[in-house]
Amino acid sequence: MNDHTLSRPELASSSRRTFISGLAASAAAVAVPGSALATGSSTGAPSAAASRPASSAGKSPMVKLNNGVEMPVFGVGCFALPTIQTADVIDFALRNGYRLIDTAKNYGNEKEVGEGIVRSGVPRSELFVTTKLWIEDFGHDQALRAFDKSMNALGLDYLDLYLLHWPVPTDFDNTLAAWKALEKLHADKRIRAIGVSNFQPEHLKRLLDNTDIVPVLNQVELHPYFPQQALRATHAQHGIKTQSWSPIGGVFTTLPKDPTKPLRLLEDPVVVNLAQKHRKSAAQIVLRWHVQHDLIVIPKSQHYERLLANIDIFNFELSAEDMSAMDALDRNLRGGPDPEQFDVPAFRAIVERRKAGV
Ligand SMILES: NC(=O)c1ccc[n+]([C@@H]2O[C@H](COP(=O)([O-])OP(=O)(O)OC[C@H]3O[C@@H](n4cnc5c(N)ncnc54)[C@H](OP(=O)(O)O)[C@@H]3O)[C@@H](O)[C@H]2O)c1
Repeated sequence: MNDHTLSRPELASSSRRTFISGLAASAAAVAVPGSALATGSSTGAPSAAASRPASSAGKSPMVKLNNGVEMPVFGVGCFALPTIQTADVIDFALRNGYRLIDTAKNYGNEKEVGEGIVRSGVPRSELFVTTKLWIEDFGHDQALRAFDKSMNALGLDYLDLYLLHWPVPTDFDNTLAAWKALEKLHADKRIRAIGVSNFQPEHLKRLLDNTDIVPVLNQVELHPYFPQQALRATHAQHGIKTQSWSPIGGVFTTLPKDPTKPLRLLEDPVVVNLAQKHRKSAAQIVLRWHVQHDLIVIPKSQHYERLLANIDIFNFELSAEDMSAMDALDRNLRGGPDPEQFDVPAFRAIVERRKAGV
């Protein structure tokens, strides 16, 4: 029941993408994205962006999922990527060795991600594209309709990975109905792999008890301040891979109990010392910690020099002692929402608080 490895060439045979990619490939040589730099990184390096040649192959190692499909262990996240920059960022990332893209309907940039894919000229068969079903689209038929809309926005005719974005504990029947829709899309060979996001052990248990396909992965908040050891152990028992969101600390940098004292992972003395020792950046040290723990990682950046540096972590190794020092940073400090409390009203309240700057 868990053994649906799809043939991508077969899936993509009559692809609109194949045709468009051909056009894009010739345009790619002159497509030098500009807007991400134009918006002002204090450390921006336009020459690095412009002079870097397009890659012919991905830079990330691959990992095999529980259904036999392989995916890159390293990719680019798209949460909070300004819509106007998204196509440029995706184009740039793909030309420079990224092959895994993590977006979501809720990020509002699927269309621009699709534009970036076309512009990059990287063949569809080399890419691994993830998007997510938003909780307001849960339920069987709603989920099927939402999938079609996401695919239209992305301009793709098959998807590599589709995730349930959050569990909705207050309406778990609808969460299960949504998963069954994903199972159907998988059986219809429209998706190569299906997974979940933000599921806690009890959500996984209810899902496994009531449905047929074991998720290939669970994408959860995970960083050295919040390493989720118990959840990772649950995943290992079921052959579910762990994917880390906010891997370098994300946008949530303050201690909930004392917002006047920001706690920044990339400024932690342990991380800074290891960065000096290895002559790497703090972000590279943290990202390396993830991959050495067999975590799939999707840092977001809208700055080209950071995109280049973030994926440049496969040429050094943290020692067992370094890893232990990083492991000891565990503060059980969740920055994002608690999945147990998450539903549509809770999400709307978060949006309102953000708008009000609280
Ligand atoms: N499933 C979920 O519920 C969920 C929730 C949140 C996120 N995600 C996914 O996970 C991805 C990553 O999470 P995230 O965006 O929250 O956090 P993140 O990747 O840990 O951190 C992103 C932040 O770090 C900055 N940054 C990136 N590279 C840097 C570097 N080398 N040095 C210093 N700062 C750097 C970025 O700024 P600049 O952009 O300005 O460089 C941005 O402010 C998201 O984009 C999304 O795809 C999923």
